Amino acid sequence: MPMQPALPPRAPTRAELASAQLLSRGGFANPDVSSWELGGARAVVKDFAPRSALVRATLGRWITRREQRAWRALAGHAAVPRYVGAVDALAFAVEHRAGAKLSRSVARETPPEFFARLEAAVAEMHACGVVHLDLRHQGNVLVGEDGAPVLLDFGSALVFAPGSLFARVAVALLGWIDRSAVAKWRSYATSEPSGPQSGSGASSRSSRSESRPT
Ligand SMILES: Nc1ncnc2c1ncn2[C@@H]1O[C@H](COP(=O)(O)OP(=O)(O)OP(=O)(O)O)[C@@H](O)[C@H]1O
Ligand SMILES: [Mg+2]
Repeated sequence: MPMQPALPPRAPTRAELASAQLLSRGGFANPDVSSWELGGARAVVKDFAPRSALVRATLGRWITRREQRAWRALAGHAAVPRYVGAVDALAFAVEHRAGAKLSRSVARETPPEFFARLEAAVAEMHACGVVHLDLRHQGNVLVGEDGAPVLLDFGSALVFAPGSLFARVAVALLGWIDRSAVAKWRSYATSEPSGPQSGSGASSRSSRSESRPT
């Protein structure tokens, strides 16, 4: 089993977040995403505190609570960074995983085994009662430094108590959305480069505005 990177033993305090490095600034109703280090261990923090009072009081709080439910439900899943903890009602921290954002051009350079592993990771996520629903978004899957898939961003995910008949039916039906996203990524791996967008790698695409692969 590959060695896991060190994990901060706790989430940052609100005051400590001031020294975090901004990775991406959220739009009207998206969190800021920052990188924070403690003793050489790195976490990623999603934070709605910089948003408007309205978003902070409603959507921000609600998404933060719901997203953490998904991260907790996936504890122990090898393709999912470890959950660290809540900062407050508007922010939480998870393990940082190094890798390249999956994009058309990255998919083309990624070996076919990756997509089999991605498919297995998604099936395991479903077995935990979680459907992601946003795996087509290019920032939400990484090709890890070790070549393994990393699943990120459970802001749109639904969590069902695994085992119940309702959960099995819901996950089987909604899981189709995740499986079709994997099929889409796999199809990019085998397609010919086309158009000007095929030249740039994932590392050069950090803007939210160009996040859709289709
Ligand atoms: N645990 C992590 N390890 C490494 N990078 C991460 C991690 N979490 C987030 N990131 C980086 O931050 C970006 C944004 O994170 P995330 O997708 O969770 O937020 P978001 O608000 O949904 O942003 P977006 O609208 O761009 O999807 C990711 O695409 C990824 O590059
Ligand atoms: Mg995202």
